[in-house]
Amino acid sequence: MRRKLVAGNWKMHGALAQNEVLLNAVAAGMAQMPGADCAVCVPFPYLAQAQKQLQGSAVQWGAQDAHQLAQGAFTGEVSATMLKDFGCRYVIVGHSERRSLYGESSALVAEKFAAVQGAELIPILCVGETLEQREAGETERVVAEQLDAVTATLGVQALVKSVIAYEPVWAIGTGKTATPEQAQAVHAFIRERIAAQDATVAQEVRILYGGSVKAANAAELFAKADIDGGLIGGASLQADDFLAICKAAQN
Ligand code: 13P
Repeated sequence: MRRKLVAGNWKMHGALAQNEVLLNAVAAGMAQMPGADCAVCVPFPYLAQAQKQLQGSAVQWGAQDAHQLAQGAFTGEVSATMLKDFGCRYVIVGHSERRSLYGESSALVAEKFAAVQGAELIPILCVGETLEQREAGETERVVAEQLDAVTATLGVQALVKSVIAYEPVWAIGTGKTATPEQAQAVHAFIRERIAAQDATVAQEVRILYGGSVKAANAAELFAKADIDGGLIGGASLQADDFLAICKAAQN
């Protein structure tokens, strides 16, 4: 049985004083909810704060991106080995905002995925189609291409110590959630595609749903057979909302 995971993606939000309140509230809330995993992926400057406040709590922390190399002359970049220094467990790679706004290709995302695992951290690999692609019937082709970029270069076994997040681009920050049935269909497609290469890996890998997950829709989504939790944007910035979503993930 896959243990559910709810991960917050703060994106470019936060400030020391407000983070302190939010992190304390999430840690306190999660102390009462042992039935699922919980993590927050914070902006780089707040990793030290997350480490200090969350160490010893039931909440893990992580980052939202990493460079594909361990070090070098890459002004402004941050490597996975640096993230490891701050006690991160997870690193998001290939978020649609990075793919679309910063031109990250699936090949680059696969390199980042490998770098994160190389630092003994767990990549959260984001995949998902745009509205245009969905309407053109291309959802499975797009998701397969994003997934295959990792398995073709690193092998299907690379998915063992990873998390996949299906995030339809049209549902991110729009308030327009995929229906549980729409999400489940893509999650099942992803799992079947992995199973075609390795049934055990497919059974074990956690596939999160992301895109306007709220307290009001989380339980319905998480009840689906292949939805193993959520990657939460906006609602992860409010402790009550985030904890309500974590509650919906309890086994
Ligand atoms: P929202 O929950 O704000 O739609 O964001 C989802 C997301 O992009 C998480 O990575």
